[in-house]
Amino acid sequence: MPPPEPVYCDVAVIGAGGAGLRAAISAAEGGLSVLCVSKVAASRSHTAAAQGGINAALANRGADDWRWHMYDTIRGGDWLPDQDAVALLCERAADAIAELEHMGMAFTRDDAGRIYQRAYGGQRTEFGRGGLAYRACAAADRTGHAMLHMLYAQSLRSGVRFAEECAALDLIMDAEGACRGVLVWRLERGELLLLRAQCVILATGGYGQAYAATTASSVCTGDGGGMALRAGLPLQDMEFVQFHPTSLYGAGLLITEGARGEGGYLRNGLGERFMARYAPQSLELASRDVIARAIAVEIREGRGCGKLKDHVHLCLEHLDAELLRERLPSVLAIARTFGRVDATRQPIPVVPAVHYTMGGIASNAASEAIGGHGEKIPGLLALGEAACTSVHGANRLGCN
Ligand code: FUM
Repeated sequence: MPPPEPVYCDVAVIGAGGAGLRAAISAAEGGLSVLCVSKVAASRSHTAAAQGGINAALANRGADDWRWHMYDTIRGGDWLPDQDAVALLCERAADAIAELEHMGMAFTRDDAGRIYQRAYGGQRTEFGRGGLAYRACAAADRTGHAMLHMLYAQSLRSGVRFAEECAALDLIMDAEGACRGVLVWRLERGELLLLRAQCVILATGGYGQAYAATTASSVCTGDGGGMALRAGLPLQDMEFVQFHPTSLYGAGLLITEGARGEGGYLRNGLGERFMARYAPQSLELASRDVIARAIAVEIREGRGCGKLKDHVHLCLEHLDAELLRERLPSVLAIARTFGRVDATRQPIPVVPAVHYTMGGIASNAASEAIGGHGEKIPGLLALGEAACTSVHGANRLGCN
């Protein structure tokens, strides 16, 4: 078969989730020609599944400071995050939220019209010594959906072109080790597309699908990491895989930590609120690794719920049903549709499942991919869950 005719663009973005679309918009607004390649329709990227919020120390609901956010992020990551990257994330988060808002993202509002913020695990004020930090900026429990659809609309407006239902197969590297493009498989036509670009941005998400139980959708197969490896580039921190404490038992779907941020709590088969044993101060708002391990211990020691004692209960029935419908509509819908549970009256059966992969394509705080000797790889950037900057260290805080 003759090689495919190359298609040229300035920037090829691989992946159309939050990270890929945001980068595509900036590049297009900077006057560059941008082609965004996505395995699925862009609006079906896994970002759509993100529920609870995005952290920024806006202080809309009590005092907050980006330095407290930075402390929590480093502590939550077991002191392993790269601190330059964490400073960048936390200091710029408020501006990033304002930018999303101005682009048209429909955040939930408080009574004063400010962006609604809820508490999330592992986040406190005063460098860990104060009360809960209300830091997660939310659009009900459909934050990723709201963000993805807004970014998709904005990227079309900015002139980004899309190659949807196209799977990126391999990076094109030159003899000097620079990335010059990417080989793409057009799934619908069964044809190859040779995409030549000045810059390739890998924003392909995580690899949760490597695990049997995961909240990651079936597209999360670590394609970017695979391409980087085959091009001889290093992956880093691959041993750090995050388990979310609450996926719907039997279905694996995410039940947002926002449910606990709104006052939900966990019970074992003996009816005990067992988190008191593991995190007496933070209880269900300890960091998610602590809670996932606690649930695993309860189940392993025979204190699980149900006939098989293989899950625990997330209780929301004590909360006002109207508040649940307003703040957690997806949780109610998921519990009803896939668990046959009315969460306003019955507990939701939950188990931990893989949720986020901290490791990925080695990159620096400027998102430049780096090689095995710390050298920058010309023409290649890595963003979002595909990248390891490493802003999350050994454990990412929810909503970071
Ligand atoms: O539980 C959640 O809403 C998950 C959020 C996150 O991982 O950012």
